[in-house]
Amino acid sequence: MAKVRVKKRNVIIAVGIVVVIIVLIAGIFRWKQQLDYQKTYEYKLENHGYSKEDTAYLIEKLSDKELDAILARDVDQNILKFMKEQYYLKKHLDEYLAYQKEHPEEELSNIVAIINVNADREWYSEYEEVDVSKDILLLSNKFHKLPDNYEPEDLENVKNWYAYGDNPQLRKEAYSQFVSMYNAAKEDGQDLIINSAYRSYKYQDDLYAKYLEWYGQKETDAMAARPGFSEHQTGLSMDIMTYGANSTTFEATEEFAWLQKHAHEYGFILRYPKGKEYLTGYEYESWHYRYVGEEVATYIYQHDITFDEYYAYFIEGE
Ligand code: DAL
Ligand code: ZN
Repeated sequence: MAKVRVKKRNVIIAVGIVVVIIVLIAGIFRWKQQLDYQKTYEYKLENHGYSKEDTAYLIEKLSDKELDAILARDVDQNILKFMKEQYYLKKHLDEYLAYQKEHPEEELSNIVAIINVNADREWYSEYEEVDVSKDILLLSNKFHKLPDNYEPEDLENVKNWYAYGDNPQLRKEAYSQFVSMYNAAKEDGQDLIINSAYRSYKYQDDLYAKYLEWYGQKETDAMAARPGFSEHQTGLSMDIMTYGANSTTFEATEEFAWLQKHAHEYGFILRYPKGKEYLTGYEYESWHYRYVGEEVATYIYQHDITFDEYYAYFIEGE
């Protein structure tokens, strides 16, 4: 009997030990799980103050490194708002936030556009060299200067009946597309005529100097590019007029209305639109068209953005 009792007691002790071990292992397991969870971005972001929804969004969109950067900042709902903007570029997040602090009334989409194209800076205050390898999509503006003595390789002489002035020239593709556009406009009873096409550095230099004398610095900079910064030097731009019109009256002509509707079909965009002066750095020019190819022109036309914005987001990007 005593033997059996001892045995029973041993069994109870053994079971007890096993139970304790199981509970301990389960506890350690849970503790380890908890520790592992605390290492996740889900835990860290929620603990930092982001909602479940925002946390999920951030994790989906950002790399670990970027999430670490988010965690190093105070919680800011504007980060999420900027990230959801159509043309958001992550390299500019700090600048968007800083600009917004200074201009709290400004729409976020506008802040993104301004920062993306550097329009928060003083025009010409700093610039890089135009990347001419981008070919018909190169960007020449007040922050992108053409290489010294740049002259496109495939300039062609424009036949006289398409243009005013002596020896007008355009890059091959821009010229042939202009001719197609010219013919289509003609069929619709509209007369397009090129008023100014390719302009060499020297030509622009003289023009700018003349304007400077007549109008002074501020006005001149709003309407003429400094030498080396003009799109006319790329051979991809042209000023289009019609008979009897000038820069003031062209906007009211049928030819302008026709271009508004059809220029993109031939790869041309109105380069300095009304209302976008703060992004392009130039006054509205109803006559200045830039060749970018049909696909890009159509995108720009349909989305009502400037080429500066297009380039910053789609060509330069990240
Ligand atoms: N008028 C344009 C901006 C130019 O001078 O290139
Ligand atoms: Zn022009």
